[in-house]
Amino acid sequence: MQINHPDITQVLVTADQIRDRISELAKEIDEFYSDKDVLLLGVLKGAVPFMADLSRALSIPAQQDWMAVSSYGSGTVSSGVVRILKDLDADVKDRHVLIVEDIIDSGLTLSWLTSNLKARGAASVEIVTLLRKPDAAKVKITVRWVGFDIPNEFVVGYGLDFNENYRSLDGVGILSPAVYS
Ligand code: PRP
Repeated sequence: MQINHPDITQVLVTADQIRDRISELAKEIDEFYSDKDVLLLGVLKGAVPFMADLSRALSIPAQQDWMAVSSYGSGTVSSGVVRILKDLDADVKDRHVLIVEDIIDSGLTLSWLTSNLKARGAASVEIVTLLRKPDAAKVKITVRWVGFDIPNEFVVGYGLDFNENYRSLDGVGILSPAVYS
């Protein structure tokens, strides 16, 4: 579905921009892991399109696994306490893990997930996120690869939803407040 949609007030990132940025990121990731075995860890559900496109843009062989997590808290406000809804299938002990995320908002989910994977004995944990909202950060986390920094607005598309809608838009845009207010 195209990002030029009546419920989108402003397009922030087009499908073409995402494709170009992913090929740049993939080159850097290929180089970084050229002598290592990497496990791509996607965080459901938002990271599905990014994982699909990024993994196919990589030249290195990479395995994939998925986790689903949910942060306790009311509505759109993250609390930092994370519950595992679906755990990894793989054992991450001594593995090089690359977390693949659609967006870092407060940073609380990724902060928790990084610590959790290190506690399980991962050899290294890095993060690639398509989007990051610098103005929404509540905790400082080290992110090796960021696709785009975006303003602190309610965005949907390319995996990001509002009430499970809009995930299949091919770009990222600001959702009209009329939809959720
Ligand atoms: C989104 C996103 C991250 C998290 C980021 O997931 O995919 O996992 O929120 O927010 P934070 O930086 O404030 O912790 P969401 O809980 O909306 O689930 P979804 O991917 O299934 O839509």
